[in-house]
Amino acid sequence: MPLHSAEPPAAARPTATSGSSGSGVPPLPAAAPRVNPIIGLGDPAGAARIRPPHHRLADDPVPADVAYQVVSDELMRDGNARLNLATFVTTWMEPQAARLMAESADKNMIDKDEYPQTAAIEQRCVAILGDLWHAPDPHRVVGCSTTGSSEAGVLAGLALKRRWAARHGIGPGGGGPDRVPNLVMGADVQVCWEKFCRYWDVEPRIVPMEGDRFHLDAATAAAACDANTIGVVAVLGSTFDGSYEPVAGICAALDALAAGGGPDVPVHVDGASGAMVAPFLDPELEWDFRLPRVASINTSGHKYGLVYPGVGWVLWRDTDALPHELVFDVNYLGGSMPTFALNFSRPGSEVIAQYYNFFRLGRQGYRQVQQAARDVATSLSASIEQMAQFRLLTRGDELPVFAFTTGDDVRGWDVFAVSRRLRERGWQVPAYTFPEHREDLAVLRVVCRNGFTRDLAESFLDDLRAVVRELDADARSIGGGAATGATMSGPSAFRH
Ligand SMILES: Cc1ncc(COP(=O)(O)O)c(C=O)c1O
Repeated sequence: MPLHSAEPPAAARPTATSGSSGSGVPPLPAAAPRVNPIIGLGDPAGAARIRPPHHRLADDPVPADVAYQVVSDELMRDGNARLNLATFVTTWMEPQAARLMAESADKNMIDKDEYPQTAAIEQRCVAILGDLWHAPDPHRVVGCSTTGSSEAGVLAGLALKRRWAARHGIGPGGGGPDRVPNLVMGADVQVCWEKFCRYWDVEPRIVPMEGDRFHLDAATAAAACDANTIGVVAVLGSTFDGSYEPVAGICAALDALAAGGGPDVPVHVDGASGAMVAPFLDPELEWDFRLPRVASINTSGHKYGLVYPGVGWVLWRDTDALPHELVFDVNYLGGSMPTFALNFSRPGSEVIAQYYNFFRLGRQGYRQVQQAARDVATSLSASIEQMAQFRLLTRGDELPVFAFTTGDDVRGWDVFAVSRRLRERGWQVPAYTFPEHREDLAVLRVVCRNGFTRDLAESFLDDLRAVVRELDADARSIGGGAATGATMSGPSAFRH
Protein backbone atom coordinates (compact mmCIF):
# COMPACT_ATOMS: atom_id res chain seq x y z
CA MET A 1 0.00 0.00 0.00
CA PRO A 2 1.40 3.45 -0.83
CA LEU A 3 2.28 5.65 2.12
CA HIS A 4 0.38 8.55 0.58
CA SER A 5 -2.61 8.42 -1.64
CA ALA A 6 -1.93 10.71 -4.59
CA GLU A 7 -5.50 10.87 -5.76
CA PRO A 8 -7.86 13.14 -3.78
CA PRO A 9 -11.53 12.43 -3.42
CA ALA A 10 -13.32 13.98 -6.40
CA ALA A 11 -15.13 16.58 -4.29
CA ALA A 12 -11.87 17.85 -2.82
CA ARG A 13 -10.11 18.51 -6.10
CA PRO A 14 -9.15 22.11 -6.73
CA THR A 15 -11.47 23.91 -9.07
CA ALA A 16 -9.46 27.05 -9.78
CA THR A 17 -7.03 25.53 -12.22
CA SER A 18 -7.78 26.98 -15.59
CA GLY A 19 -8.56 30.19 -17.42
CA SER A 20 -6.09 32.43 -15.64
CA SER A 21 -6.84 36.12 -15.69
CA GLY A 22 -3.18 36.66 -16.55
CA SER A 23 -2.48 38.29 -13.17
CA GLY A 24 -1.59 34.98 -11.54
CA VAL A 25 -5.04 34.91 -9.92
CA PRO A 26 -7.28 32.09 -11.10
CA PRO A 27 -10.99 32.72 -11.70
CA LEU A 28 -13.55 32.38 -8.93
CA PRO A 29 -13.99 28.70 -8.01
CA ALA A 30 -17.39 27.12 -7.74
CA ALA A 31 -16.84 26.49 -4.02
CA ALA A 32 -16.76 29.35 -1.51
CA PRO A 33 -13.45 31.28 -1.43
CA ARG A 34 -11.16 30.39 1.43
CA VAL A 35 -8.73 33.28 1.63
CA ASN A 36 -9.32 36.51 3.47
CA PRO A 37 -9.76 39.27 0.81
CA ILE A 38 -7.51 41.66 2.77
CA ILE A 39 -4.51 39.55 1.78
CA GLY A 40 -4.65 40.62 -1.89
CA LEU A 41 -1.94 42.81 -3.37
CA GLY A 42 -3.64 45.48 -5.53
CA ASP A 43 -6.94 43.71 -5.97
CA PRO A 44 -8.59 42.49 -2.76
CA ALA A 45 -11.30 40.59 -4.59
CA GLY A 46 -8.67 38.73 -6.61
CA ALA A 47 -7.12 37.20 -3.51
CA ALA A 48 -10.51 35.96 -2.41
CA ARG A 49 -10.52 33.63 -5.42
CA ILE A 50 -7.40 31.79 -4.36
CA ARG A 51 -7.66 28.36 -2.84
CA PRO A 52 -4.50 26.76 -1.52
CA PRO A 53 -3.82 23.43 -3.26
CA HIS A 54 -4.61 20.33 -1.23
CA HIS A 55 -4.09 17.52 -3.67
CA ARG A 56 -2.70 18.78 -6.93
CA LEU A 57 -0.86 21.81 -8.24
CA ALA A 58 -2.92 24.68 -9.57
CA ASP A 59 -2.02 25.73 -13.09
CA ASP A 60 -1.01 29.26 -12.16
CA PRO A 61 1.27 30.87 -9.62
CA VAL A 62 0.03 33.26 -6.93
CA PRO A 63 1.83 36.33 -5.56
CA ALA A 64 4.53 35.49 -3.03
CA ASP A 65 2.95 37.59 -0.26
CA VAL A 66 -0.33 35.78 -0.70
CA ALA A 67 1.33 32.35 -0.62
CA TYR A 68 3.27 33.36 2.49
CA GLN A 69 0.23 34.66 4.33
CA VAL A 70 -2.00 31.74 3.49
CA VAL A 71 0.56 29.13 4.55
CA SER A 72 1.47 31.11 7.65
CA ASP A 73 -2.21 31.39 8.60
CA GLU A 74 -2.71 27.70 8.10
CA LEU A 75 0.13 26.99 10.52
CA MET A 76 -1.70 28.87 13.28
CA ARG A 77 -3.71 25.71 13.75
CA ASP A 78 -0.65 23.85 15.05
CA GLY A 79 -0.10 23.71 18.79
CA ASN A 80 2.04 26.39 20.40
CA ALA A 81 5.55 24.91 20.42
CA ARG A 82 6.51 26.65 23.68
CA LEU A 83 3.58 25.02 25.49
CA ASN A 84 4.56 21.62 24.16
CA LEU A 85 5.79 19.70 27.20
CA ALA A 86 5.79 16.47 25.20
CA THR A 87 8.76 17.04 22.95
CA PHE A 88 12.45 16.86 23.75
CA VAL A 89 13.19 18.93 20.67
CA THR A 90 14.25 22.57 20.85
CA THR A 91 11.42 25.04 20.47
CA TRP A 92 13.27 28.30 21.02
CA MET A 93 16.53 29.70 19.71
CA GLU A 94 17.97 33.17 19.73
CA PRO A 95 17.12 35.40 16.74
CA GLN A 96 20.81 35.50 15.79
CA ALA A 97 20.82 31.71 15.48
CA ALA A 98 17.63 31.81 13.44
CA ARG A 99 19.26 34.36 11.14
CA LEU A 100 22.36 32.21 10.65
CA MET A 101 20.12 29.24 9.90
CA ALA A 102 18.24 31.16 7.25
CA GLU A 103 21.55 32.30 5.77
CA SER A 104 22.92 28.75 5.55
CA ALA A 105 19.80 26.87 4.46
CA ASP A 106 21.07 26.93 0.89
CA LYS A 107 24.34 25.14 1.67
CA ASN A 108 24.24 21.41 1.08
CA MET A 109 25.94 19.63 3.96
CA ILE A 110 27.14 16.79 1.72
CA ASP A 111 28.77 19.13 -0.75
CA LYS A 112 31.95 19.50 1.24
CA ASP A 113 34.07 20.52 -1.69
CA GLU A 114 31.75 23.41 -2.53
CA TYR A 115 31.22 24.48 1.08
CA PRO A 116 34.52 23.67 2.77
CA GLN A 117 33.88 26.08 5.62
CA THR A 118 30.62 24.39 6.55
CA ALA A 119 32.47 21.05 6.40
CA ALA A 120 35.21 22.47 8.66
CA ILE A 121 32.59 23.67 11.13
CA GLU A 122 31.04 20.19 11.22
CA GLN A 123 34.49 18.78 12.04
CA ARG A 124 34.95 21.35 14.80
CA CYS A 125 31.65 20.25 16.31
CA VAL A 126 32.80 16.60 16.24
CA ALA A 127 36.04 17.58 17.97
CA ILE A 128 34.18 19.63 20.60
CA LEU A 129 31.86 16.69 21.35
CA GLY A 130 34.83 14.30 21.47
CA ASP A 131 36.43 16.53 24.07
CA LEU A 132 33.18 16.90 26.01
CA TRP A 133 32.74 13.11 26.07
CA HIS A 134 36.36 12.45 27.09
CA ALA A 135 37.60 10.75 23.94
CA PRO A 136 41.01 9.34 24.91
CA ASP A 137 42.73 10.68 21.82
CA PRO A 138 41.00 13.67 20.18
CA HIS A 139 42.88 12.97 16.93
CA ARG A 140 41.51 9.44 16.63
CA VAL A 141 37.87 10.18 17.46
CA VAL A 142 35.66 9.91 14.39
CA GLY A 143 32.15 11.14 13.94
CA CYS A 144 29.66 13.03 11.86
CA SER A 145 26.46 14.98 11.97
CA THR A 146 23.22 13.21 11.15
CA THR A 147 19.59 14.16 10.82
CA GLY A 148 18.97 13.18 14.44
CA SER A 149 19.62 10.43 16.96
CA SER A 150 17.66 7.94 14.89
CA GLU A 151 20.09 8.09 11.98
CA ALA A 152 23.00 8.32 14.43
CA GLY A 153 21.80 5.19 16.23
CA VAL A 154 21.43 3.26 12.98
CA LEU A 155 25.00 4.17 11.95
CA ALA A 156 26.32 3.11 15.35
CA GLY A 157 24.31 -0.12 15.17
CA LEU A 158 25.72 -0.88 11.72
CA ALA A 159 29.25 -0.40 13.03
CA LEU A 160 28.53 -2.79 15.92
CA LYS A 161 27.07 -5.36 13.56
CA ARG A 162 29.99 -5.13 11.18
CA ARG A 163 32.53 -5.51 14.01
CA TRP A 164 30.70 -8.54 15.37
CA ALA A 165 30.63 -10.13 11.89
CA ALA A 166 34.36 -9.45 11.47
CA ARG A 167 35.11 -11.04 14.89
CA HIS A 168 33.33 -14.20 13.81
CA GLY A 169 34.52 -14.23 10.21
CA ILE A 170 30.97 -13.78 8.90
CA GLY A 171 30.69 -12.41 5.40
CA PRO A 172 27.95 -10.33 3.77
CA GLY A 173 25.72 -13.41 3.29
CA GLY A 174 25.23 -13.71 7.08
CA GLY A 175 26.16 -16.45 9.49
CA GLY A 176 23.25 -18.87 9.10
CA PRO A 177 20.58 -19.76 11.67
CA ASP A 178 23.10 -20.25 14.51
CA ARG A 179 24.60 -16.87 13.96
CA VAL A 180 21.69 -14.40 14.15
CA PRO A 181 23.07 -11.19 15.61
CA ASN A 182 21.26 -9.64 18.57
CA LEU A 183 21.32 -6.25 20.26
CA VAL A 184 20.66 -6.05 23.99
CA MET A 185 18.66 -3.10 25.32
CA GLY A 186 16.07 -2.14 27.90
CA ALA A 187 12.36 -1.88 27.16
CA ASP A 188 12.69 1.89 27.55
CA VAL A 189 14.66 2.30 24.32
CA GLN A 190 13.30 4.69 21.75
CA VAL A 191 11.69 3.14 18.71
CA CYS A 192 14.73 3.94 16.52
CA TRP A 193 16.53 0.92 18.00
CA GLU A 194 13.73 -1.47 17.17
CA LYS A 195 13.68 0.07 13.71
CA PHE A 196 17.40 -0.54 13.31
CA CYS A 197 16.94 -4.17 14.31
CA ARG A 198 14.03 -4.74 11.98
CA TYR A 199 15.59 -3.04 8.97
CA TRP A 200 19.03 -4.60 9.42
CA ASP A 201 18.05 -8.14 10.46
CA VAL A 202 19.20 -7.99 14.04
CA GLU A 203 17.25 -9.64 16.85
CA PRO A 204 16.16 -6.95 19.32
CA ARG A 205 16.89 -8.56 22.68
CA ILE A 206 14.76 -6.36 24.87
CA VAL A 207 15.06 -6.73 28.63
CA PRO A 208 11.56 -6.10 29.99
CA MET A 209 10.74 -3.75 32.84
CA GLU A 210 10.11 -5.48 36.14
CA GLY A 211 8.35 -4.03 39.18
CA ASP A 212 9.88 -0.62 39.82
CA ARG A 213 12.85 -1.23 37.52
CA PHE A 214 11.94 0.89 34.52
CA HIS A 215 15.19 0.58 32.60
CA LEU A 216 18.17 -1.68 31.91
CA ASP A 217 20.47 -2.50 34.81
CA ALA A 218 23.89 -4.12 34.99
CA ALA A 219 22.81 -7.63 35.92
CA THR A 220 19.99 -7.93 33.39
CA ALA A 221 22.14 -6.50 30.59
CA ALA A 222 24.98 -8.96 31.13
CA ALA A 223 22.60 -11.89 31.56
CA ALA A 224 21.01 -11.19 28.16
CA CYS A 225 24.32 -11.31 26.23
CA ASP A 226 25.70 -14.26 24.32
CA ALA A 227 28.22 -14.88 21.56
CA ASN A 228 25.88 -13.32 19.00
CA THR A 229 25.40 -10.06 20.85
CA ILE A 230 26.71 -7.23 18.71
CA GLY A 231 26.43 -4.71 21.53
CA VAL A 232 24.46 -3.34 24.45
CA VAL A 233 22.62 -0.03 24.10
CA ALA A 234 22.62 1.96 27.32
CA VAL A 235 20.32 4.96 27.34
CA LEU A 236 21.43 8.12 29.04
CA GLY A 237 18.06 9.58 29.64
CA SER A 238 15.10 7.25 29.20
CA THR A 239 12.39 8.58 26.93
CA PHE A 240 9.82 7.11 29.30
CA ASP A 241 10.77 8.84 32.53
CA GLY A 242 14.01 10.82 32.08
CA SER A 243 16.11 8.46 34.23
CA TYR A 244 19.74 7.65 33.38
CA GLU A 245 20.62 4.00 32.83
CA PRO A 246 23.65 2.94 34.89
CA VAL A 247 26.19 2.96 32.06
CA ALA A 248 29.25 2.43 34.30
CA GLY A 249 27.55 -0.46 36.08
CA ILE A 250 26.55 -2.06 32.79
CA CYS A 251 30.14 -1.72 31.52
CA ALA A 252 31.51 -3.24 34.73
CA ALA A 253 29.14 -6.21 34.43
CA LEU A 254 30.24 -6.72 30.82
CA ASP A 255 33.91 -6.45 31.86
CA ALA A 256 33.28 -9.23 34.35
CA LEU A 257 31.48 -11.30 31.73
CA ALA A 258 34.44 -11.02 29.33
CA ALA A 259 36.97 -11.65 32.11
CA GLY A 260 35.10 -14.84 32.99
CA GLY A 261 35.51 -16.18 29.44
CA GLY A 262 32.16 -14.86 28.16
CA PRO A 263 31.64 -12.67 25.10
CA ASP A 264 33.41 -9.33 24.93
CA VAL A 265 30.49 -7.01 24.20
CA PRO A 266 30.89 -3.33 23.31
CA VAL A 267 28.50 -0.66 24.57
CA HIS A 268 26.83 2.10 22.62
CA VAL A 269 25.44 4.98 24.68
CA ASP A 270 22.25 6.51 23.35
CA GLY A 271 22.70 9.95 24.82
CA ALA A 272 19.99 11.52 22.64
CA SER A 273 19.23 13.90 25.49
CA GLY A 274 21.63 13.03 28.32
CA ALA A 275 24.88 13.39 26.37
CA MET A 276 24.20 17.13 26.28
CA VAL A 277 23.07 17.32 29.91
CA ALA A 278 25.40 15.10 31.94
CA PRO A 279 28.68 16.74 30.78
CA PHE A 280 27.49 20.04 32.21
CA LEU A 281 25.42 19.05 35.23
CA ASP A 282 26.92 15.71 36.29
CA PRO A 283 30.62 16.01 35.41
CA GLU A 284 31.59 13.30 37.91
CA LEU A 285 29.24 10.73 36.40
CA GLU A 286 31.23 8.30 34.26
CA TRP A 287 29.11 7.31 31.30
CA ASP A 288 31.18 8.27 28.25
CA PHE A 289 34.52 7.42 26.60
CA ARG A 290 36.14 7.39 30.07
CA LEU A 291 34.71 3.87 30.16
CA PRO A 292 36.89 1.80 27.81
CA ARG A 293 33.93 -0.42 26.88
CA VAL A 294 31.97 2.50 25.41
CA ALA A 295 32.59 2.26 21.66
CA SER A 296 30.24 4.97 20.41
CA ILE A 297 27.86 7.68 21.55
CA ASN A 298 25.02 9.53 19.87
CA THR A 299 23.16 12.67 20.76
CA SER A 300 20.44 14.83 19.26
CA GLY A 301 21.81 18.30 18.67
CA HIS A 302 18.18 19.31 18.41
CA LYS A 303 17.32 18.22 21.93
CA TYR A 304 19.49 19.48 24.80
CA GLY A 305 22.07 20.53 22.19
CA LEU A 306 19.59 23.42 21.89
CA VAL A 307 19.26 23.53 18.09
CA TYR A 308 16.02 23.56 16.09
CA PRO A 309 15.09 20.15 14.62
CA GLY A 310 17.25 18.38 12.12
CA VAL A 311 20.60 17.59 13.70
CA GLY A 312 22.16 14.64 15.52
CA TRP A 313 25.69 13.45 16.15
CA VAL A 314 27.44 10.12 16.40
CA LEU A 315 31.03 9.62 17.52
CA TRP A 316 33.22 6.53 17.74
CA ARG A 317 35.99 6.38 20.31
CA ASP A 318 38.60 5.72 17.62
CA THR A 319 39.01 4.50 14.07
CA ASP A 320 39.02 0.86 15.27
CA ALA A 321 35.44 1.25 16.48
CA LEU A 322 34.21 2.30 13.03
CA PRO A 323 34.98 -0.39 10.42
CA HIS A 324 36.61 1.41 7.53
CA GLU A 325 34.56 -0.44 4.90
CA LEU A 326 31.47 1.45 6.11
CA VAL A 327 33.01 4.76 5.12
CA PHE A 328 32.51 5.73 1.51
CA ASP A 329 35.10 7.85 -0.20
CA VAL A 330 32.99 9.70 -2.67
CA ASN A 331 34.62 11.52 -5.52
CA TYR A 332 32.29 14.46 -5.67
CA LEU A 333 32.64 17.72 -7.57
CA GLY A 334 36.34 17.28 -7.82
CA GLY A 335 37.02 16.41 -4.18
CA SER A 336 37.46 13.15 -2.29
CA MET A 337 35.01 13.05 0.57
CA PRO A 338 34.66 10.37 3.25
CA THR A 339 31.01 9.91 4.23
CA PHE A 340 29.09 7.60 6.47
CA ALA A 341 25.42 8.49 6.27
CA LEU A 342 22.12 7.02 5.22
CA ASN A 343 21.07 10.04 3.22
CA PHE A 344 22.93 12.45 0.99
CA SER A 345 21.76 16.05 0.69
CA ARG A 346 20.64 18.08 3.67
CA PRO A 347 20.89 21.73 4.66
CA GLY A 348 23.92 23.10 6.48
CA SER A 349 21.74 25.24 8.76
CA GLU A 350 21.47 22.90 11.73
CA VAL A 351 25.18 22.18 11.91
CA ILE A 352 25.90 25.90 11.68
CA ALA A 353 23.36 26.54 14.44
CA GLN A 354 25.00 23.86 16.59
CA TYR A 355 28.33 25.56 16.18
CA TYR A 356 26.72 28.93 16.97
CA ASN A 357 25.49 27.50 20.28
CA PHE A 358 28.87 25.96 21.10
CA PHE A 359 30.56 29.28 20.42
CA ARG A 360 27.89 31.46 22.04
CA LEU A 361 27.37 29.45 25.21
CA GLY A 362 30.65 27.71 25.97
CA ARG A 363 30.70 25.28 28.88
CA GLN A 364 29.42 27.79 31.37
CA GLY A 365 26.51 28.90 29.19
CA TYR A 366 25.39 25.32 28.54
CA ARG A 367 25.71 24.57 32.24
CA GLN A 368 23.49 27.54 33.12
CA VAL A 369 20.83 26.68 30.53
CA GLN A 370 20.68 22.99 31.54
CA GLN A 371 20.72 23.86 35.26
CA ALA A 372 17.81 26.24 34.74
CA ALA A 373 15.85 23.43 33.03
CA ARG A 374 16.72 21.00 35.84
CA ASP A 375 15.71 23.56 38.49
CA VAL A 376 12.33 24.07 36.82
CA ALA A 377 11.86 20.28 36.51
CA THR A 378 12.74 19.50 40.12
CA SER A 379 10.68 22.31 41.62
CA LEU A 380 7.68 21.52 39.39
CA SER A 381 7.86 17.81 40.23
CA ALA A 382 8.12 18.71 43.95
CA SER A 383 4.93 20.79 43.69
CA ILE A 384 3.14 17.98 41.87
CA GLU A 385 4.28 15.57 44.58
CA GLN A 386 2.41 17.75 47.09
CA MET A 387 -0.86 17.11 45.23
CA ALA A 388 -2.69 14.20 46.84
CA GLN A 389 -3.87 12.95 43.45
CA PHE A 390 -0.42 12.17 42.03
CA ARG A 391 2.59 9.95 42.63
CA LEU A 392 5.99 10.75 41.11
CA LEU A 393 8.01 8.13 39.27
CA THR A 394 10.97 10.41 38.65
CA ARG A 395 11.87 13.93 39.78
CA GLY A 396 13.65 15.52 36.85
CA ASP A 397 17.01 15.40 38.63
CA GLU A 398 18.69 13.44 35.81
CA LEU A 399 17.23 14.57 32.51
CA PRO A 400 15.06 17.61 33.28
CA VAL A 401 12.14 15.30 32.55
CA PHE A 402 9.81 13.60 34.98
CA ALA A 403 6.91 11.17 34.90
CA PHE A 404 4.02 10.88 37.33
CA THR A 405 0.93 8.80 37.72
CA THR A 406 -2.31 8.98 39.65
CA GLY A 407 -2.41 8.00 43.32
CA ASP A 408 -4.25 4.90 44.49
CA ASP A 409 -7.20 6.95 45.80
CA VAL A 410 -8.03 8.61 42.51
CA ARG A 411 -11.39 7.41 41.22
CA GLY A 412 -13.33 8.35 38.14
CA TRP A 413 -10.52 9.83 36.00
CA ASP A 414 -7.08 8.90 34.81
CA VAL A 415 -3.92 10.37 33.28
CA PHE A 416 -5.47 10.35 29.81
CA ALA A 417 -8.28 12.63 30.99
CA VAL A 418 -5.70 14.97 32.54
CA SER A 419 -3.76 15.09 29.29
CA ARG A 420 -6.89 15.89 27.30
CA ARG A 421 -8.04 18.64 29.68
CA LEU A 422 -4.57 20.20 29.71
CA ARG A 423 -4.70 20.21 25.94
CA GLU A 424 -7.87 22.29 26.12
CA ARG A 425 -5.78 24.88 27.94
CA GLY A 426 -3.02 24.79 25.33
CA TRP A 427 -0.58 22.45 27.14
CA GLN A 428 0.60 19.33 25.38
CA VAL A 429 1.49 16.69 27.95
CA PRO A 430 1.57 13.08 26.77
CA ALA A 431 -0.09 10.29 28.71
CA TYR A 432 0.93 6.74 27.89
CA THR A 433 1.21 3.26 29.32
CA PHE A 434 4.56 1.63 30.01
CA PRO A 435 5.66 -1.35 27.89
CA GLU A 436 5.41 -5.09 28.44
CA HIS A 437 5.30 -6.24 32.09
CA ARG A 438 4.20 -2.76 33.24
CA GLU A 439 1.35 -2.05 30.85
CA ASP A 440 -0.73 -1.51 33.97
CA LEU A 441 1.20 1.72 34.61
CA ALA A 442 -0.09 4.84 32.84
CA VAL A 443 1.83 8.08 33.32
CA LEU A 444 2.06 11.71 32.33
CA ARG A 445 5.47 13.03 31.31
CA VAL A 446 6.75 16.59 31.43
CA VAL A 447 9.86 17.62 29.46
CA CYS A 448 11.39 20.86 30.74
CA ARG A 449 13.43 22.61 28.08
CA ASN A 450 15.17 25.89 27.53
CA GLY A 451 12.35 28.44 27.27
CA PHE A 452 10.02 26.65 29.72
CA THR A 453 10.58 29.26 32.37
CA ARG A 454 9.62 29.29 36.05
CA ASP A 455 6.75 31.61 35.15
CA LEU A 456 5.43 29.21 32.55
CA ALA A 457 5.90 26.32 34.98
CA GLU A 458 3.83 28.17 37.58
CA SER A 459 1.06 28.82 35.13
CA PHE A 460 1.19 25.15 34.07
CA LEU A 461 0.85 24.15 37.74
CA ASP A 462 -2.16 26.45 38.18
CA ASP A 463 -3.79 24.82 35.16
CA LEU A 464 -2.96 21.32 36.38
CA ARG A 465 -4.56 22.09 39.75
CA ALA A 466 -7.63 23.53 38.04
CA VAL A 467 -7.93 20.47 35.80
CA VAL A 468 -7.73 18.15 38.77
CA ARG A 469 -10.42 20.16 40.62
CA GLU A 470 -12.67 19.92 37.56
CA LEU A 471 -12.08 16.20 37.15
CA ASP A 472 -12.72 15.53 40.84
CA ALA A 473 -15.92 17.60 40.67
CA ASP A 474 -17.08 15.84 37.50
CA ALA A 475 -16.33 12.44 39.03
CA ARG A 476 -18.36 13.35 42.12
CA SER A 477 -21.26 14.61 40.01
CA ILE A 478 -21.50 11.35 38.09
CA GLY A 479 -21.43 9.40 41.32
CA GLY A 480 -17.75 8.48 41.45
CA GLY A 481 -15.98 6.15 39.06
CA ALA A 482 -15.56 3.57 41.77
CA ALA A 483 -19.31 3.21 42.20
CA THR A 484 -20.22 3.35 38.52
CA GLY A 485 -17.15 1.72 37.05
CA ALA A 486 -16.81 4.72 34.71
CA THR A 487 -13.49 6.48 34.25
CA MET A 488 -13.08 9.79 32.47
CA SER A 489 -10.39 9.07 30.02
CA GLY A 490 -9.30 10.18 26.60
CA PRO A 491 -6.71 9.71 23.92
CA SER A 492 -3.28 11.24 24.10
CA ALA A 493 -0.33 11.05 21.74
CA PHE A 494 3.11 10.02 22.98
CA ARG A 495 5.56 12.21 21.15
CA HIS A 496 9.30 12.62 21.39
C1 LIG B 1 16.72 8.05 23.99
C2 LIG B 1 16.33 8.47 22.60
N1 LIG B 1 16.97 7.93 21.55
C3 LIG B 1 16.68 8.28 20.28
C4 LIG B 1 15.69 9.21 20.02
C5 LIG B 1 15.41 9.60 18.59
O1 LIG B 1 15.89 10.89 18.41
P1 LIG B 1 15.72 11.79 17.11
O2 LIG B 1 14.36 12.39 17.23
O3 LIG B 1 16.79 12.82 17.26
O4 LIG B 1 15.89 10.95 15.91
C6 LIG B 1 14.99 9.79 21.09
C7 LIG B 1 13.90 10.77 20.85
O5 LIG B 1 13.22 11.17 21.76
C8 LIG B 1 15.33 9.42 22.41
O6 LIG B 1 14.72 9.98 23.47
